[in-house]
Amino acid sequence: KNIALVAGGYSGEYVISVQSAVTIENNLDSSKYNVYKIIITKDSWSYTAADGAVVEVDKNDFSLTVQGNKITFDAVFIGIHGTPGEDGRLQGYFEMLGIPFTSCGMVTSAVTFNKSFCNKIVDALNVVNVSKSVHIFRDQPHNTTDILQQLRLPVFVKPAEGGSSIGMSKVKTAEELPSAIDKAFKEDAQVLIEEFIKGRELTIGLYRENGAITVLPITEIVSSKEFFDYEAKYTPGVSNEITPAPVSDEITRKVQETATILYNKLNCKGITRVDFIYEEGTGKLFFLEINTMPGQSENSLVPQQVRAAGKTLKEFYGVLLEESMK
Ligand code: DAL
Ligand code: MG
Repeated sequence: KNIALVAGGYSGEYVISVQSAVTIENNLDSSKYNVYKIIITKDSWSYTAADGAVVEVDKNDFSLTVQGNKITFDAVFIGIHGTPGEDGRLQGYFEMLGIPFTSCGMVTSAVTFNKSFCNKIVDALNVVNVSKSVHIFRDQPHNTTDILQQLRLPVFVKPAEGGSSIGMSKVKTAEELPSAIDKAFKEDAQVLIEEFIKGRELTIGLYRENGAITVLPITEIVSSKEFFDYEAKYTPGVSNEITPAPVSDEITRKVQETATILYNKLNCKGITRVDFIYEEGTGKLFFLEINTMPGQSENSLVPQQVRAAGKTLKEFYGVLLEESMK
């Protein structure tokens, strides 16, 4: 089968996307799949052939012509974090062309990618706690005094459509809020400001296999930084990621059940990772976010969870591809 692995993208997560695509490419079974890695940037969608020739994708039908042969694809493995691979844009394009792909569909990708809209939908489902938040837009006035009347410090300030903690700050005093908002607006025209929940950070990957949702082991993240920021995420040793998470059976079940309900209710497809905060004092579980294209670099959370489940990445990526083509 001909498989396109799309990588890169337009966002600050470009470098991470390329790393994820390397892991995916190295672990796609070459006896079953002819894999064509296509790097998507604002300027080009290109495939580099073995002889070094660079071929542009024909966007009319997402085909490549390599040495005179036209190649079309049986499925696309989406390996892009951030826009346009995680936010519904490419999903809508492939849906229009009728080409199967490994991630959630257009609508689920779009609404879950916007942290603020996603919080509102998840809150309405009444299955998990959601931190109080305010959603502001660059082209509409906002007033930080008003915001702080609605929210209790500390708060997190996040680009609403971002990833890997880029542009994000933890704000402890009112004075720090305006500059944190400016920083987030540099990344996105929408910003989410939400109350900080003190607790244990737990994350779980889920995917579908033979029609059934399969949960991976939970990971607990213990960051030595103020929060699990870009450096803590990608510098080995800065955070401690423990899989399976050393939590009680009761919490394990609660995280698995809640994540499964969200996967179902949000109509997720493929591998999705749901992040939570468990507030120990109250025993409450808070939803943090859902990642429909979770990191796949060699040491990322989902690959750790796959290995802890006793599976190889080759088996796992094979399942994701085969499910997408059903
Ligand atoms: N946005 C990063 C890649 C993640 O969720 O793993
Ligand atoms: Mg994320």
